[in-house]
Formats: sequence, structure tokens, C-alpha cells
Amino acid sequence: MSSIIKSLVYTRFAIRTSWPIWWNILNRTPRALFAKNTPILDDTQRRLVEGLKKDGIVATTLDELFPGQHMLATLQAYAKSLEPNAKSRTKKLFLKHYWDITPQLDLNNPFIAIIINKRIVDIANSYMEMWTKLKYYTLIETTPVGGEDAVQSQRWHRDPEEKRMCKMFIYLTDVDEESGPFIYTPQSVYGKKYGHLFPQRPPEGIYPPEEAVSRAIPKEDVRVFTGKAGTVLFCDTTGIHRGGYARSKPRLMFTAFFSAPTFSEPTRYTHPQGFAKTAESLDPAVRYTLEP
Ligand SMILES: [Fe+2]
Repeated sequence: MSSIIKSLVYTRFAIRTSWPIWWNILNRTPRALFAKNTPILDDTQRRLVEGLKKDGIVATTLDELFPGQHMLATLQAYAKSLEPNAKSRTKKLFLKHYWDITPQLDLNNPFIAIIINKRIVDIANSYMEMWTKLKYYTLIETTPVGGEDAVQSQRWHRDPEEKRMCKMFIYLTDVDEESGPFIYTPQSVYGKKYGHLFPQRPPEGIYPPEEAVSRAIPKEDVRVFTGKAGTVLFCDTTGIHRGGYARSKPRLMFTAFFSAPTFSEPTRYTHPQGFAKTAESLDPAVRYTLEP
């Protein structure tokens, strides 16, 4: 790319991701929809949204979210049925994808049932303070890399594209220090204690060196999210994070990304025929998150 085009691209992204424009102008409509339909949260949802707003990340479990429903066993059994077809589908060969990069939305997939559950959508929307769009969902096994160098997402970074994001991670296997836990700096999103450090540089982002991050952020302010299978994290990945550097043990993790509608990359799933009809029975905020 010529340097003029490159600087135009950066300028365009810098403008669209500046807070006043992103918040007040570009996302005015989804914010108004949320304001008109503000959900009433239960105690668990409120704790999670407050944690997200305070730190940019909060942890829970499938059992806390869905008491008595044995959700972990259901998800693990479903994952097991897909395992024979799991393979690397991108240049990141250490990642085994359990379904296509752009799957067809299947409402019978129990992972989909979870993410379109109104309680989950309400958590994401309440953190984002707008009606969000589900942009992708993945089930990925991170295979051990031994002593190899960490690649992009395994290194410290901020997701670059938006001012605020909400991802939901579900660990399907026990995750310890050896299996690539998600690592996050609480209070590193826009406007918080560490929000000014290593600012986003859209479109491709910024990957500050390990030493620069450890100089700027004391170790005790970094959290390593090890956890049992069934651990669920809600996280704003515009904050400083890394993960998936599995040394000796694999990690199976589900990810769902709820975004402001401004996210410019294509949605990474397709809709089955007749989806519009099926969607009529869904709650309006859930329908909005799935609609093309
Ligand atoms: Fe990331």
C-alpha cells in the first residue's frame, strides 16, 4: 500500500473510532433501541455487567448462569460429536476449528442456544449500552506450541476495530497455566486506569513488546484466567490482553463476539433459508443481534 493510501486508511479509522463519533453518531440508533428497551437484570446479570463496567472483564460459570441445567455436559457432548471434523482452517495451524470459519447459523447447536438466550444478550447489551450484533462464534482447540514464539493474539494487544466490545468465552476443558489461559489487564479499556497505554491503532492493531507492558503495568494488576471447564468470561477485548499460548496442554474454548453494529468486517456466519420467519418468534433484542 502506498504511504498516502495507508495514511488515509489510518485517518479514516482514527476518525470512526474516536469516542464522540463512534458513540454519539455512528451508534446512535442501537443506543436508542437499548434505551427504549432497557432490560431488567437479575442479581447474577447485574453482578456481571457491573464487573464488566468496572474492570472490562468478569468471570462466572455455566452453573451460575444456568443453574440446574447441566449445560457443561451438554456442550461437551456436542463438542465431542464434532471433534472428528476439527481441523486447522486458517494460517494459524495450532488452532483446530470445530466448525467452518463461516458456518450456517444452526439454532439447534447448543452453543447457539446459549448465546441467543435473552439473559446472555441482555448482559452483552447492558455492558455495551446498545443493541449489539453477534458477529461470529467459534469453537476452537488451541494445541500446544511447545517452546515456539508467541504469535499475534498470544502477544499483548488490544483488539483494534471498535471502542467497546463484548466477547463471551466458555472453557470446555480445564485451563491451567500450561493450556493457554486468557490473560487480561483489568481497567485497561477506554477511560479507565490503563486505558491510555498502548492505544488502539486500527485497522490492524498494535502489539507492544512484553517488556514495555511489564514496565508500564505492575504484575499484580494483570489477571491470569485459569479455570475449570465451565468457566465463562465476559470481556471487553479493546482492553490489553493475550491468550492461547498453550505450552503443553490443549485448551478447548468457545467464543462469541457481540459487537456494536459499526464493526466493519463481514459477519462470520450465514443464515439458513427461512430465517426471517424463524426469527419472528425471538425476543426483539435477540432477533436484532442475529439479523443480517
Ligand atoms: Fe484479541
